[in-house]
Amino acid sequence: MTTAAPETVETTDPSALEAVFDAAVAADERIEPRDWMPDAYRATLVRQMAQHAHSEIIGMQPEANWITRAPSLRRKAILMAKVQDEAGHGLYLYSAAETLGTGRDELLDKLHSGRQKYSSIFNYPTLTWADVGAIGWLVDGAAITNQVPLCRCSYGPYARAMVRICKEESFHQRQGYELLLALSRGTEAQHAMAQDAVDRWWWPSLMMFGPPDDESAHSAQSMAWKIKRHSNDELRQRFVDICVPQAESLGLTLPDPALRWNEERGHHDFGPIDWDEFHQVLRGNGPCNEQRLDRRRKAHEDGAWVREAALAHAAKHSAPEHTDRTEHPEASA
Ligand code: 3HC
Repeated sequence: MTTAAPETVETTDPSALEAVFDAAVAADERIEPRDWMPDAYRATLVRQMAQHAHSEIIGMQPEANWITRAPSLRRKAILMAKVQDEAGHGLYLYSAAETLGTGRDELLDKLHSGRQKYSSIFNYPTLTWADVGAIGWLVDGAAITNQVPLCRCSYGPYARAMVRICKEESFHQRQGYELLLALSRGTEAQHAMAQDAVDRWWWPSLMMFGPPDDESAHSAQSMAWKIKRHSNDELRQRFVDICVPQAESLGLTLPDPALRWNEERGHHDFGPIDWDEFHQVLRGNGPCNEQRLDRRRKAHEDGAWVREAALAHAAKHSAPEHTDRTEHPEASA
């Protein structure tokens, strides 16, 4: 916090501490790791940041599927950089969650055992090369719409992580748009491939923003704490309004016959979302849930030797007797 931090307040009275916390949130100050915070605030942040971090690393899978089949060296280099960026985003977010006292091991364990969620969107398959473009344009576009307001989240480490993530996501969105534009302006078959990808990714992208406001369990409290700055429906509407003119420029059609400008509301109306599909995916019944989690668990197991080696290396170098002499005994002979 920029003013008197709750920990420096001369009291251990919980209600006094809570009053300082509430005042800091009301004044738009940042809460920092050592500040006093309500247990429920901490738990909500860990839940959301963990879900976010898991989404970043699981999200590497659908696109990595196309790295070996990218149509040119340029496209391959771009895609590899993007997938690496997502790993980096996971790292920033797990590190930010660690500042709240929850280690990465514990969070990964919860992901692998299905006790924590990751974004529904990554349970859909990438069937053609155009899906890489549709993910960049729509999925990264939805992520930016959702995440730019998180740069103003009340919790400092999360907000700061989001600044860099959003800058990188913005490149991702543009590469997807540019890829789709190239396909849309290409041959008839390429145009059809781009349209098919947009047809399949549009509705799941709208689901990324979460359930409708009246069914969102956490929104009201998260907004009161200024973790979330806008409701799920507000951000979904903003995303639709952004995408409509972009789809026109791309020469592609959004697969919603009900989509039209509403002069009175100053927004686009859009058709009903299939929330049954959303809940099915959350329950583990999406097209790729099983495959995504299996692959994640296997990657974790395959990486066990790296973690063991890193720990052994760190232990060796922190041991008091560790000197150059012990490493090279002949040097002192
Ligand atoms: N997929 C999976 N679960 C979802 C979901 C989605 N699209 N939308 C909501 N949920 C879950 C919530 O986590 C919550 O479950 P829980 O109680 O077990 O945690 C439940 O559905 C009820 O939803 P709420 O609206 O009450 O939940 P929130 O207030 O947390 O809002 C959210 C959901 C808008 C996704 C919010 O958590 C958020 O903004 N998270 C940070 C951003 C994020 O996680 N993005 C992931 C997108 S992908 C990404 O970033 C990778 C990039 O490379 C594209």
